[in-house]
Amino acid sequence: MKSSVYITRKLPEEIIDKLSQYFHVRMWGEENIPVPREILMKEIENIDGLICLLTEKIDEEVIAKAKHLKIISNVAVGYNNINLPAAARKGIIVTNTPGVLTETTADLTFALLMAAARRVVNASDVLRSGKWGAWSLMEFTGQDIYGATLGIIGLGRIGEALVKRAKGFDMNVLYYNRTRKQDKERELGIHYVELKDLLQQSDYVCLMLPYSAEVHHLISKEELSLMKPNAILINTARGGIVDEEALYEALRNGDIWGAGLDVFEQEPVTMDHPLLSLSNVVTLPHIGSASVKTRMRMANLAVDNLVKVLNGEEPITPVQQ
Ligand code: DGY
Repeated sequence: MKSSVYITRKLPEEIIDKLSQYFHVRMWGEENIPVPREILMKEIENIDGLICLLTEKIDEEVIAKAKHLKIISNVAVGYNNINLPAAARKGIIVTNTPGVLTETTADLTFALLMAAARRVVNASDVLRSGKWGAWSLMEFTGQDIYGATLGIIGLGRIGEALVKRAKGFDMNVLYYNRTRKQDKERELGIHYVELKDLLQQSDYVCLMLPYSAEVHHLISKEELSLMKPNAILINTARGGIVDEEALYEALRNGDIWGAGLDVFEQEPVTMDHPLLSLSNVVTLPHIGSASVKTRMRMANLAVDNLVKVLNGEEPITPVQQ
C-alpha cells in the first residue's frame, strides 16, 4: 500500500507530480493562507509523511495526534516552528533545507542593508508622493557602505556568504558566534569580537543566527544602547531575536540610525505595528530566500528528504534532534 503524505500549502504542480509517483498525496489547496490548525490536527493522524512551511506550528499537541508519522519535512532552513523533542520522543525524523538558500538569502540581506543605508525606499516614497522639491545638498543623505564596519552575529553558511559580499565593498568585518571559527577568520579575513564590542564598533549589525529560546530578544534595550548613533540593524533571521518595542524606541529616539527588517516576531505583521510608522526602517515580508530558483530548490530538497525517509533511507539534511 502507498504511504500517505500531507502538504500544508499549495506547491507547484511538478513537485506534486513527483510525489504522486510514490505516495498518496493530500494537500491544503491555498497558496497564501496557512492550513487551519484543526485541519492539520486531523490530517496528521493518519499520514506517514508531512511537508510543511515555517508558518505551521508543529508543537507537542499536533505531534501527539500523529499515529504513524515518520518524517516532518520543513521547507525552510529554520525549524523553530517544530517541537524537536516531541518529534524525537515519537521517533519522527525532522528535516530542513540548508545550503540551497544560502546565496539568495545573503543577497537579500545585503540588499536590505544597502536600501536602509541609502534610504532607497524612503527617497522613492518621497518622489512618488510628489514631495521632491529640488536637488539639494543634504536631503536624502544616508550612510556609506564602502569601507564601513559590518558586525555579523552568527557565522553560519549565510553569515559567511554575507562576508563575501561585504568584502566586495571593502568592509571591515567583525563577527560574534557561539564558537570562534579561527579557520574562517584566516580564510575570509574577518575578526572575532565579543558581542558587546561588536555592537559598539559596527556601523551595520546583521543578525544571521537561528532562533531558539536562548536567543529570544538577544537584541534588547541594553544591546541597542551600545550601538553607534549612525548604526543600522539588519534582521533577516527571525523576528524573535529582537525586542521590537526596544528597537522602536531606539529608532525613534535616534539612538541608532536605521533598521532593515525582513522578519517580525508575529508574522504577518499588522498594519498598526509601530515599526511600520518609521521612515528610517525598511521592511519586507520575510522574502530572504524568495527567488524562483531557490524556492524550487527548497521544495525539491524537502520532497527528496521525505521520499528517502519513507523509502527507508537516511534523509539528506536531517535536523539534529
Ligand atoms: C528559512 O528558510 O528559514 C527562511 O526563513 C525562509 O527561507
